[in-house]
Amino acid sequence: MNIQENISLKPFNTFGIDVIAKVFTTFSSKEELTDVLNTYQKNPLLILGGGSNILFTKNFDGLVLKNELKGIELVKEDDEYYYVKAAAGEVWHEFVLHCLEHNYAGIENLSLIPGNVGASPMQNIGAYGVEIKDVFYELEAYHIQSHAIQTFGLKDCEFGYRESVFKRKFKDQFIILNVTYKLRKQPVFHTSYGAIEKELEKMSVKELSIKAISQAVINIRSSKLPDPKVVGNAGSFFKNPIVSKFRWHVIWEEYRDIPYYTSDNYHYKIPAAWLIEQCGWKGYRRNDIGCNPLQPLVLVNYGNATGNEIIELSEQIIQSVKQKFGIELEKEVNII
Ligand code: FAD
Ligand code: EPU
Repeated sequence: MNIQENISLKPFNTFGIDVIAKVFTTFSSKEELTDVLNTYQKNPLLILGGGSNILFTKNFDGLVLKNELKGIELVKEDDEYYYVKAAAGEVWHEFVLHCLEHNYAGIENLSLIPGNVGASPMQNIGAYGVEIKDVFYELEAYHIQSHAIQTFGLKDCEFGYRESVFKRKFKDQFIILNVTYKLRKQPVFHTSYGAIEKELEKMSVKELSIKAISQAVINIRSSKLPDPKVVGNAGSFFKNPIVSKFRWHVIWEEYRDIPYYTSDNYHYKIPAAWLIEQCGWKGYRRNDIGCNPLQPLVLVNYGNATGNEIIELSEQIIQSVKQKFGIELEKEVNII
Protein backbone atom coordinates (compact mmCIF):
# COMPACT_ATOMS: atom_id res chain seq x y z
CA MET A 1 0.00 0.00 0.00
CA ASN A 2 1.65 3.23 -1.16
CA ILE A 3 0.18 6.10 0.83
CA GLN A 4 0.92 9.63 -0.31
CA GLU A 5 0.06 12.75 1.64
CA ASN A 6 -0.66 16.26 0.42
CA ILE A 7 -0.25 15.48 -3.26
CA SER A 8 -1.56 17.43 -6.24
CA LEU A 9 -4.57 15.90 -8.02
CA LYS A 10 -3.79 17.78 -11.26
CA PRO A 11 -2.59 14.65 -13.10
CA PHE A 12 -5.67 12.74 -11.92
CA ASN A 13 -8.47 14.90 -13.36
CA THR A 14 -8.98 15.70 -17.04
CA PHE A 15 -9.98 19.29 -16.23
CA GLY A 16 -6.39 19.64 -14.99
CA ILE A 17 -7.42 21.44 -11.79
CA ASP A 18 -4.61 21.78 -9.28
CA VAL A 19 -5.94 20.88 -5.84
CA ILE A 20 -4.32 18.94 -3.02
CA ALA A 21 -5.49 15.60 -1.59
CA LYS A 22 -4.76 15.09 2.09
CA VAL A 23 -4.27 11.32 1.62
CA PHE A 24 -4.02 9.48 -1.71
CA THR A 25 -3.59 5.81 -2.45
CA THR A 26 -4.50 3.18 -5.00
CA PHE A 27 -6.00 -0.29 -4.63
CA SER A 28 -5.70 -3.22 -6.98
CA SER A 29 -7.50 -5.96 -5.02
CA LYS A 30 -10.52 -6.28 -2.71
CA GLU A 31 -8.16 -7.19 0.13
CA GLU A 32 -6.13 -4.04 -0.39
CA LEU A 33 -9.34 -2.01 -0.44
CA THR A 34 -10.46 -3.51 2.88
CA ASP A 35 -7.02 -2.82 4.40
CA VAL A 36 -7.11 0.83 3.37
CA LEU A 37 -10.64 1.33 4.63
CA ASN A 38 -9.74 -0.28 7.96
CA THR A 39 -6.63 1.85 8.34
CA TYR A 40 -7.76 5.30 7.26
CA GLN A 41 -10.55 7.58 8.25
CA LYS A 42 -13.18 7.14 5.55
CA ASN A 43 -14.68 10.60 5.74
CA PRO A 44 -14.60 12.29 3.29
CA LEU A 45 -13.78 9.58 0.78
CA LEU A 46 -13.47 9.92 -2.98
CA ILE A 47 -13.29 6.97 -5.36
CA LEU A 48 -11.41 8.02 -8.43
CA GLY A 49 -11.44 6.42 -11.85
CA GLY A 50 -9.99 8.38 -14.77
CA GLY A 51 -11.12 11.71 -13.27
CA SER A 52 -12.91 12.63 -16.51
CA ASN A 53 -16.26 13.57 -15.01
CA ILE A 54 -15.12 15.54 -12.01
CA LEU A 55 -14.54 19.21 -11.24
CA PHE A 56 -12.53 19.96 -8.11
CA THR A 57 -13.37 23.29 -6.48
CA LYS A 58 -11.20 22.95 -3.37
CA ASN A 59 -8.50 20.84 -1.75
CA PHE A 60 -9.76 17.38 -0.78
CA ASP A 61 -9.44 17.08 2.98
CA GLY A 62 -9.78 13.30 3.12
CA LEU A 63 -8.90 10.04 1.41
CA VAL A 64 -8.73 9.73 -2.38
CA LEU A 65 -8.76 6.11 -3.49
CA LYS A 66 -7.76 5.47 -7.07
CA ASN A 67 -9.22 2.26 -8.42
CA GLU A 68 -6.68 0.07 -10.21
CA LEU A 69 -8.56 -3.23 -10.33
CA LYS A 70 -7.65 -4.95 -13.61
CA GLY A 71 -8.87 -7.91 -15.66
CA ILE A 72 -11.26 -8.80 -18.48
CA GLU A 73 -12.94 -12.20 -18.57
CA LEU A 74 -15.52 -13.98 -20.72
CA VAL A 75 -17.68 -15.46 -17.97
CA LYS A 76 -20.32 -17.28 -20.04
CA GLU A 77 -22.07 -17.35 -23.38
CA ASP A 78 -25.38 -18.47 -24.86
CA ASP A 79 -26.72 -18.57 -28.42
CA GLU A 80 -27.06 -14.79 -28.64
CA TYR A 81 -24.65 -13.23 -26.17
CA TYR A 82 -21.18 -13.14 -24.68
CA TYR A 83 -21.15 -12.12 -21.01
CA VAL A 84 -17.94 -10.20 -20.47
CA LYS A 85 -16.79 -9.10 -17.03
CA ALA A 86 -14.36 -6.19 -16.75
CA ALA A 87 -12.70 -4.94 -13.58
CA ALA A 88 -13.56 -1.37 -12.60
CA GLY A 89 -10.02 -0.04 -13.10
CA GLU A 90 -9.81 -1.07 -16.77
CA VAL A 91 -9.64 1.94 -19.11
CA TRP A 92 -12.99 2.13 -20.89
CA HIS A 93 -11.69 2.66 -24.43
CA GLU A 94 -9.16 -0.17 -24.05
CA PHE A 95 -12.06 -2.40 -23.03
CA VAL A 96 -13.93 -1.29 -26.17
CA LEU A 97 -10.87 -2.20 -28.28
CA HIS A 98 -10.69 -5.61 -26.58
CA CYS A 99 -14.36 -6.23 -27.47
CA LEU A 100 -13.81 -5.15 -31.10
CA GLU A 101 -10.88 -7.58 -31.38
CA HIS A 102 -12.99 -10.45 -30.03
CA ASN A 103 -16.11 -9.53 -32.04
CA TYR A 104 -18.19 -8.79 -28.95
CA ALA A 105 -20.76 -6.34 -30.34
CA GLY A 106 -22.68 -3.56 -28.63
CA ILE A 107 -20.29 -0.92 -27.33
CA GLU A 108 -18.68 0.22 -30.59
CA ASN A 109 -20.76 3.45 -30.50
CA LEU A 110 -19.23 4.19 -27.10
CA SER A 111 -15.67 4.30 -28.46
CA LEU A 112 -13.22 6.88 -27.15
CA ILE A 113 -15.24 7.91 -24.08
CA PRO A 114 -12.56 8.73 -21.48
CA GLY A 115 -12.52 7.16 -18.03
CA ASN A 116 -12.71 3.69 -16.56
CA VAL A 117 -15.11 0.76 -16.62
CA GLY A 118 -16.13 1.35 -12.98
CA ALA A 119 -17.65 4.74 -13.73
CA SER A 120 -19.55 3.56 -16.82
CA PRO A 121 -22.69 2.62 -14.86
CA MET A 122 -22.41 5.61 -12.49
CA GLN A 123 -24.03 7.95 -14.99
CA ASN A 124 -25.06 5.36 -17.58
CA ILE A 125 -22.56 6.70 -20.12
CA GLY A 126 -23.96 7.21 -23.57
CA ALA A 127 -23.09 8.36 -27.04
CA TYR A 128 -24.32 8.04 -30.61
CA GLY A 129 -27.59 6.30 -29.75
CA VAL A 130 -26.27 3.72 -27.24
CA GLU A 131 -26.17 3.78 -23.45
CA ILE A 132 -24.63 1.37 -20.93
CA LYS A 133 -28.11 0.24 -19.91
CA ASP A 134 -28.49 -1.32 -23.40
CA VAL A 135 -25.59 -3.75 -22.81
CA PHE A 136 -25.55 -4.01 -19.03
CA TYR A 137 -25.91 -7.40 -17.34
CA GLU A 138 -24.77 -6.96 -13.72
CA LEU A 139 -22.15 -5.40 -11.47
CA GLU A 140 -20.52 -6.15 -8.16
CA ALA A 141 -20.10 -3.35 -5.66
CA TYR A 142 -18.43 -3.08 -2.28
CA HIS A 143 -20.54 -1.53 0.47
CA ILE A 144 -18.26 1.00 2.18
CA GLN A 145 -19.82 0.73 5.65
CA SER A 146 -20.32 -3.03 5.95
CA HIS A 147 -17.56 -4.19 3.52
CA ALA A 148 -20.11 -6.61 2.02
CA ILE A 149 -20.15 -7.25 -1.73
CA GLN A 150 -23.51 -6.81 -3.42
CA THR A 151 -24.63 -7.75 -6.93
CA PHE A 152 -26.81 -5.29 -8.86
CA GLY A 153 -28.85 -6.36 -11.89
CA LEU A 154 -30.28 -4.05 -14.55
CA LYS A 155 -33.39 -3.02 -12.61
CA ASP A 156 -31.45 -2.43 -9.39
CA CYS A 157 -29.32 0.21 -11.10
CA GLU A 158 -32.34 2.44 -11.98
CA PHE A 159 -30.59 3.78 -15.07
CA GLY A 160 -31.83 6.98 -16.69
CA TYR A 161 -30.35 9.66 -18.93
CA ARG A 162 -26.92 10.21 -17.28
CA GLU A 163 -28.40 8.75 -14.08
CA SER A 164 -28.22 5.66 -11.88
CA VAL A 165 -29.00 4.60 -8.35
CA PHE A 166 -25.31 5.27 -7.51
CA LYS A 167 -25.74 8.99 -8.19
CA ARG A 168 -29.00 9.15 -6.21
CA LYS A 169 -30.24 6.78 -3.49
CA PHE A 170 -26.87 5.06 -2.96
CA LYS A 171 -24.63 8.08 -3.53
CA ASP A 172 -21.21 7.58 -1.87
CA GLN A 173 -22.24 4.21 -0.41
CA PHE A 174 -20.69 1.72 -2.86
CA ILE A 175 -17.45 1.13 -4.71
CA ILE A 176 -18.06 -0.57 -8.04
CA LEU A 177 -15.61 -3.48 -8.39
CA ASN A 178 -16.52 -4.94 -11.78
CA VAL A 179 -19.18 -4.76 -14.47
CA THR A 180 -20.49 -7.59 -16.67
CA TYR A 181 -21.78 -6.58 -20.09
CA LYS A 182 -24.06 -8.62 -22.33
CA LEU A 183 -22.56 -8.32 -25.81
CA ARG A 184 -24.03 -9.65 -29.02
CA LYS A 185 -22.65 -12.43 -31.17
CA GLN A 186 -24.54 -11.03 -34.18
CA PRO A 187 -24.17 -7.25 -34.17
CA VAL A 188 -27.12 -4.89 -34.37
CA PHE A 189 -25.72 -1.74 -35.98
CA HIS A 190 -26.75 1.71 -34.73
CA THR A 191 -25.85 4.18 -37.44
CA SER A 192 -28.81 6.55 -37.49
CA TYR A 193 -27.55 8.94 -34.81
CA GLY A 194 -25.86 12.18 -35.78
CA ALA A 195 -23.24 12.11 -38.47
CA ILE A 196 -22.35 8.38 -38.36
CA GLU A 197 -23.76 7.49 -41.79
CA LYS A 198 -22.12 10.50 -43.42
CA GLU A 199 -18.80 9.59 -41.79
CA LEU A 200 -19.07 5.95 -42.95
CA GLU A 201 -19.63 7.23 -46.49
CA LYS A 202 -16.62 9.51 -46.21
CA MET A 203 -14.57 6.53 -45.06
CA SER A 204 -15.81 4.57 -48.15
CA VAL A 205 -16.91 1.67 -45.97
CA LYS A 206 -18.17 -1.12 -48.21
CA GLU A 207 -19.20 -3.61 -45.57
CA LEU A 208 -20.59 -2.39 -42.26
CA SER A 209 -18.83 -3.77 -39.18
CA ILE A 210 -18.42 -2.90 -35.53
CA LYS A 211 -14.85 -1.81 -36.24
CA ALA A 212 -16.03 0.57 -38.98
CA ILE A 213 -18.65 2.10 -36.68
CA SER A 214 -16.07 2.49 -33.93
CA GLN A 215 -13.72 4.28 -36.34
CA ALA A 216 -16.53 6.56 -37.56
CA VAL A 217 -17.39 7.49 -33.97
CA ILE A 218 -13.70 8.12 -33.20
CA ASN A 219 -13.40 10.39 -36.25
CA ILE A 220 -16.50 12.42 -35.34
CA ARG A 221 -15.53 12.76 -31.70
CA SER A 222 -11.95 13.77 -32.51
CA SER A 223 -13.21 16.47 -34.89
CA LYS A 224 -15.13 18.38 -32.23
CA LEU A 225 -14.31 17.29 -28.68
CA PRO A 226 -11.11 18.73 -27.19
CA ASP A 227 -8.48 16.18 -26.17
CA PRO A 228 -8.06 16.54 -22.38
CA LYS A 229 -4.32 15.93 -22.79
CA VAL A 230 -4.20 19.21 -24.72
CA VAL A 231 -7.03 21.28 -23.21
CA GLY A 232 -8.56 20.50 -19.82
CA ASN A 233 -12.24 19.50 -19.89
CA ALA A 234 -14.71 16.89 -18.66
CA GLY A 235 -16.84 16.46 -21.77
CA SER A 236 -20.38 17.86 -21.66
CA PHE A 237 -20.61 20.14 -18.67
CA PHE A 238 -24.43 20.20 -18.76
CA LYS A 239 -27.12 17.65 -19.57
CA ASN A 240 -29.35 18.18 -22.57
CA PRO A 241 -32.56 19.54 -21.00
CA ILE A 242 -35.85 17.69 -21.37
CA VAL A 243 -38.70 20.17 -21.57
CA SER A 244 -42.49 20.01 -21.92
CA LYS A 245 -44.05 20.07 -25.37
CA PHE A 246 -45.55 23.45 -24.42
CA ARG A 247 -42.15 25.02 -23.56
CA TRP A 248 -40.66 23.60 -26.75
CA HIS A 249 -43.54 25.06 -28.81
CA VAL A 250 -43.09 28.52 -27.28
CA ILE A 251 -39.43 28.49 -28.33
CA TRP A 252 -40.22 27.02 -31.75
CA GLU A 253 -42.61 29.95 -32.44
CA GLU A 254 -39.57 32.22 -32.38
CA TYR A 255 -36.79 29.86 -33.49
CA ARG A 256 -38.15 27.63 -36.26
CA ASP A 257 -34.77 25.94 -36.67
CA ILE A 258 -34.53 24.70 -33.08
CA PRO A 259 -33.07 21.17 -33.07
CA TYR A 260 -34.64 18.55 -30.82
CA TYR A 261 -35.01 14.88 -30.08
CA THR A 262 -38.49 13.80 -28.94
CA SER A 263 -38.37 11.79 -25.74
CA ASP A 264 -42.08 10.90 -25.82
CA ASN A 265 -45.23 12.68 -26.97
CA TYR A 266 -45.12 15.18 -24.13
CA HIS A 267 -41.43 15.94 -23.76
CA TYR A 268 -38.64 17.15 -26.02
CA LYS A 269 -34.91 16.91 -25.44
CA ILE A 270 -33.14 20.04 -26.72
CA PRO A 271 -29.37 20.08 -27.35
CA ALA A 272 -27.89 22.32 -24.65
CA ALA A 273 -25.11 23.12 -27.16
CA TRP A 274 -27.68 24.92 -29.33
CA LEU A 275 -29.14 26.90 -26.39
CA ILE A 276 -25.63 27.93 -25.28
CA GLU A 277 -24.62 28.92 -28.80
CA GLN A 278 -27.78 31.03 -29.21
CA CYS A 279 -26.78 32.90 -26.04
CA GLY A 280 -23.45 33.82 -27.64
CA TRP A 281 -21.13 31.71 -25.49
CA LYS A 282 -19.64 29.48 -28.20
CA GLY A 283 -15.90 30.16 -28.38
CA TYR A 284 -16.01 32.50 -25.38
CA ARG A 285 -12.73 32.83 -23.49
CA ARG A 286 -11.78 34.77 -20.35
CA ASN A 287 -8.25 34.23 -19.05
CA ASP A 288 -7.89 30.44 -18.78
CA ILE A 289 -11.59 29.52 -18.82
CA GLY A 290 -13.73 29.10 -21.88
CA CYS A 291 -16.53 27.53 -23.85
CA ASN A 292 -15.19 25.19 -26.52
CA PRO A 293 -15.39 26.78 -30.01
CA LEU A 294 -16.49 23.54 -31.72
CA GLN A 295 -18.83 22.08 -29.06
CA PRO A 296 -20.03 24.76 -26.61
CA LEU A 297 -21.45 22.16 -24.21
CA VAL A 298 -17.85 21.54 -23.20
CA LEU A 299 -16.31 24.07 -20.79
CA VAL A 300 -12.53 24.18 -20.88
CA ASN A 301 -9.47 25.00 -18.81
CA TYR A 302 -6.82 26.52 -21.08
CA GLY A 303 -4.12 26.29 -18.41
CA ASN A 304 -4.34 27.30 -14.79
CA ALA A 305 -8.04 27.89 -14.23
CA THR A 306 -9.53 27.02 -10.85
CA GLY A 307 -12.63 24.92 -10.35
CA ASN A 308 -14.45 27.95 -8.96
CA GLU A 309 -13.72 29.99 -12.09
CA ILE A 310 -15.26 27.20 -14.18
CA ILE A 311 -18.27 27.07 -11.85
CA GLU A 312 -18.68 30.84 -12.14
CA LEU A 313 -18.71 30.60 -15.94
CA SER A 314 -21.20 27.73 -15.80
CA GLU A 315 -23.52 29.81 -13.57
CA GLN A 316 -23.36 32.71 -16.04
CA ILE A 317 -24.28 30.34 -18.86
CA ILE A 318 -27.15 28.86 -16.83
CA GLN A 319 -28.44 32.38 -16.10
CA SER A 320 -28.36 33.53 -19.70
CA VAL A 321 -30.03 30.36 -21.04
CA LYS A 322 -32.72 30.74 -18.38
CA GLN A 323 -33.29 34.38 -19.26
CA LYS A 324 -33.51 33.78 -23.01
CA PHE A 325 -35.35 30.45 -23.11
CA GLY A 326 -36.84 29.87 -19.64
CA ILE A 327 -34.88 26.61 -19.37
CA GLU A 328 -32.63 25.78 -16.41
CA LEU A 329 -29.57 23.78 -17.48
CA GLU A 330 -28.44 21.06 -15.09
CA LYS A 331 -24.74 20.31 -14.55
CA GLU A 332 -23.63 16.85 -15.67
CA VAL A 333 -20.14 16.91 -14.15
CA ASN A 334 -19.62 15.88 -10.50
CA ILE A 335 -18.62 18.96 -8.50
CA ILE A 336 -16.31 18.20 -5.59
P1 FAD B 1 -14.34 9.75 -12.58
O1 FAD B 1 -14.38 11.12 -13.16
O2 FAD B 1 -13.08 9.31 -11.95
O3 FAD B 1 -15.53 9.60 -11.54
C1 FAD B 1 -16.84 10.03 -11.85
C2 FAD B 1 -17.76 9.75 -10.64
O4 FAD B 1 -17.89 8.35 -10.46
C3 FAD B 1 -17.20 10.28 -9.31
O5 FAD B 1 -18.28 10.65 -8.51
C4 FAD B 1 -16.48 9.07 -8.73
O6 FAD B 1 -16.38 9.12 -7.31
C5 FAD B 1 -17.39 7.96 -9.19
N1 FAD B 1 -16.69 6.68 -9.40
C6 FAD B 1 -15.72 6.43 -10.30
N2 FAD B 1 -15.36 5.14 -10.26
C7 FAD B 1 -16.13 4.56 -9.30
C8 FAD B 1 -16.23 3.24 -8.77
N3 FAD B 1 -15.46 2.23 -9.21
N4 FAD B 1 -17.14 3.01 -7.80
C9 FAD B 1 -17.90 4.00 -7.32
N5 FAD B 1 -17.85 5.27 -7.78
C10 FAD B 1 -16.98 5.54 -8.75
N6 FAD B 1 -19.61 10.71 -20.92
C11 FAD B 1 -20.61 10.14 -21.62
O7 FAD B 1 -21.53 9.55 -21.03
N7 FAD B 1 -20.64 10.19 -22.98
C12 FAD B 1 -19.68 10.81 -23.69
O8 FAD B 1 -19.74 10.83 -24.91
C13 FAD B 1 -18.61 11.42 -22.99
N8 FAD B 1 -17.64 12.07 -23.65
C14 FAD B 1 -16.61 12.66 -22.96
C15 FAD B 1 -15.61 13.32 -23.68
C16 FAD B 1 -14.56 13.91 -23.02
C17 FAD B 1 -13.48 14.61 -23.80
C18 FAD B 1 -14.47 13.85 -21.61
C19 FAD B 1 -13.31 14.45 -20.87
C20 FAD B 1 -15.48 13.22 -20.88
C21 FAD B 1 -16.57 12.62 -21.55
N9 FAD B 1 -17.61 11.97 -20.87
C22 FAD B 1 -18.61 11.35 -21.57
C23 FAD B 1 -17.62 11.95 -19.40
C24 FAD B 1 -16.77 10.81 -18.77
O9 FAD B 1 -15.86 10.30 -19.71
C25 FAD B 1 -17.64 9.67 -18.23
O10 FAD B 1 -18.54 10.15 -17.27
C26 FAD B 1 -16.79 8.55 -17.62
O11 FAD B 1 -17.59 7.43 -17.36
C27 FAD B 1 -16.10 8.97 -16.32
O12 FAD B 1 -15.22 7.93 -15.95
P2 FAD B 1 -14.04 8.17 -14.94
O13 FAD B 1 -13.44 6.85 -14.65
O14 FAD B 1 -13.12 9.21 -15.46
O15 FAD B 1 -14.83 8.70 -13.67
N1 EPU C 1 -25.12 21.98 -31.68
C1 EPU C 1 -25.17 23.34 -31.87
N2 EPU C 1 -23.99 24.01 -31.88
C2 EPU C 1 -22.80 23.40 -31.74
C3 EPU C 1 -22.75 22.00 -31.55
C4 EPU C 1 -23.94 21.31 -31.52
O1 EPU C 1 -26.23 23.93 -32.01
O2 EPU C 1 -21.77 24.08 -31.77
C5 EPU C 1 -26.40 21.23 -31.70
C6 EPU C 1 -26.65 20.65 -33.09
O3 EPU C 1 -28.03 20.76 -33.36
C7 EPU C 1 -26.28 19.19 -32.92
C8 EPU C 1 -26.71 18.94 -31.48
O4 EPU C 1 -26.35 20.15 -30.80
O5 EPU C 1 -26.97 18.35 -33.81
C9 EPU C 1 -26.08 17.73 -30.82
O6 EPU C 1 -24.68 17.87 -30.81
P1 EPU C 1 -23.75 16.58 -30.59
O7 EPU C 1 -24.10 15.51 -31.55
O8 EPU C 1 -22.35 17.05 -30.52
O9 EPU C 1 -24.18 16.00 -29.17
P2 EPU C 1 -24.66 16.64 -27.80
O10 EPU C 1 -26.13 16.45 -27.67
O11 EPU C 1 -24.14 18.02 -27.65
C10 EPU C 1 -24.47 14.44 -26.46
C11 EPU C 1 -23.80 13.94 -25.22
C12 EPU C 1 -22.34 13.64 -25.49
C13 EPU C 1 -22.26 12.57 -26.57
C14 EPU C 1 -22.95 13.10 -27.83
C15 EPU C 1 -23.02 12.06 -28.92
C16 EPU C 1 -24.99 14.88 -23.34
C17 EPU C 1 -24.98 15.87 -22.22
N3 EPU C 1 -23.93 14.92 -24.15
O12 EPU C 1 -23.89 15.69 -26.78
O13 EPU C 1 -21.76 13.13 -24.31
O14 EPU C 1 -20.93 12.24 -26.86
O15 EPU C 1 -24.31 13.49 -27.51
O16 EPU C 1 -23.98 11.11 -28.59
O17 EPU C 1 -25.95 14.12 -23.47
C18 EPU C 1 -20.65 13.75 -22.29
O18 EPU C 1 -21.62 13.27 -21.68
O19 EPU C 1 -19.64 14.23 -21.70
C19 EPU C 1 -20.67 13.79 -23.75
C20 EPU C 1 -19.70 14.32 -24.48
